[in-house]
Amino acid sequence: MNQPLQAPSDRPRYLYVQTFGCQMNEYDSRRVEGILAAEGYRLTDDISLADVIFLNTCSVRDKAEQKVHSFLGRLRRLKKRNPDLKIIVAGCVAQQIGKGLLSRFEHLDVVLGTRGISSVAQVLDRVSKTGERLSFLPLEEPSAEPGSKEDLPFNAGQVAASVTVMQGCNNFCTYCIVPYVRGRERSRPSGEIVKEINGLVACGVREVLLLGQNVNSYGRGLEESVSFIDLLKRIHEETDIQRIRFTTSHPKDLTDGLIECFATLPRLCGCLHLPFQSGSDRILKRMNRVYTSAEYIGKIEKLRLCCPEIGLTSDVMVGFPGETEEDFQDTLRLMDRVQFDNLFSFRYSDRPYARSVEFPDKVSEDIKARRLAELQAMQAEITLRKNRDEIGKVREILVEGPSKTSNGQLTGRTQQNKIVNFESTGDLTGSFARVRVIDAFSHSLRGELVADLP
Ligand code: SAH
Ligand code: SF4
Ligand code: F3S
Repeated sequence: MNQPLQAPSDRPRYLYVQTFGCQMNEYDSRRVEGILAAEGYRLTDDISLADVIFLNTCSVRDKAEQKVHSFLGRLRRLKKRNPDLKIIVAGCVAQQIGKGLLSRFEHLDVVLGTRGISSVAQVLDRVSKTGERLSFLPLEEPSAEPGSKEDLPFNAGQVAASVTVMQGCNNFCTYCIVPYVRGRERSRPSGEIVKEINGLVACGVREVLLLGQNVNSYGRGLEESVSFIDLLKRIHEETDIQRIRFTTSHPKDLTDGLIECFATLPRLCGCLHLPFQSGSDRILKRMNRVYTSAEYIGKIEKLRLCCPEIGLTSDVMVGFPGETEEDFQDTLRLMDRVQFDNLFSFRYSDRPYARSVEFPDKVSEDIKARRLAELQAMQAEITLRKNRDEIGKVREILVEGPSKTSNGQLTGRTQQNKIVNFESTGDLTGSFARVRVIDAFSHSLRGELVADLP
């Protein structure tokens, strides 16, 4: 048992953060760390030390939601041992279930909605003082000073950081819960984004990932007239950030103008995550994706014309209601045609609010499992082959720090977003280096240093 060395009032208060789900949630968790650090909390990796546990949740698939429920169940024991412990559940499951979570999990103190992040300190202060249990699910982010110092994500000396440019989604793909838990699309003013990036540059960040559910529609609804292309140009002109990436793009909104940016904007990395979801036009229609597989492939061809070495990744699902064997074969054909560098693949699951819940001809779990295994085996071969194609090439990487898996090696990513581990006598963290790729595996490459760039 941990005996506090100091009187309880002097003992530092510890915050433990656990994040599930997408980069949006990661970004929000970093904001919470920043806000609570300003309140005197210290971050800990040791959950048993925590005075506050902040759980940021994802409900995009049934499996993701189940993970949250089992994690929450395991916290019961900690609360019993330390009744002063405060447990906050935030993010998309919090938004989806709301107050009901408090009755389901009696050891839970706060349910915080997706637009309640900036209020975390006030909410925590209230439950600490009054001992009440509450749910706070505002319709709008009630931040008085968006982008104020306390509201910016905690940056623990990373070389690459994320910046949210828009939140929510208006697309209503029929399988998706996101528009219901994240709300309608809202863009952040471009000046605020530029300011945040300049702040990151001042802290040593060299690469940013611009985040949004559909960044291509950035700017809609803002008072200023600004498109996503304008935003990319403004970041080029008004910041010294060295590398820019963005995610996610919806194929229907990926314009020729944005595709051309990959040829004309020097600091935009040659990589794109462009979810296709299915290769069958019939299924795409039922998903409300508003493009055909031929249109998707047409965009990929244009991208490769503009930027021949572009790294391409995508999302796909199997077993959408009504998906036949022929539809599934169309998906494999699209994958074969495009040859993605990497692919995130999922089994379809019914989600609350999603229209597809009502669709007939549900696919059995057995068939979904078989299709997913076949698809993943095919992609594993493509990924490994594409990684092997890198052998012998010299690539510029941004060095991010010590490699997690290889002893004593450093790690960085190429513009195409491939991980390269390499030996180095000096610590090159934060600098650009040139490496020759000498070996390739399924998730990373091995390289040797050619020469450091100034
Ligand atoms: N905004 C992004 C990503 C949204 S969620 C986009 O539009 O692409 C990430 C991925 O989860 C989706 O691309 C999709 O492949 C998957 N997904 C979403 N809902 C799902 C569901 N009900 N079942 C299975 N996979 C789902
Ligand atoms: Fe969901 Fe579609 Fe919006 Fe992506 S674009 S978040 S898949 S509704
Ligand atoms: Fe999950 Fe919410 Fe992101 S549902 S994918 S955490 S927007």
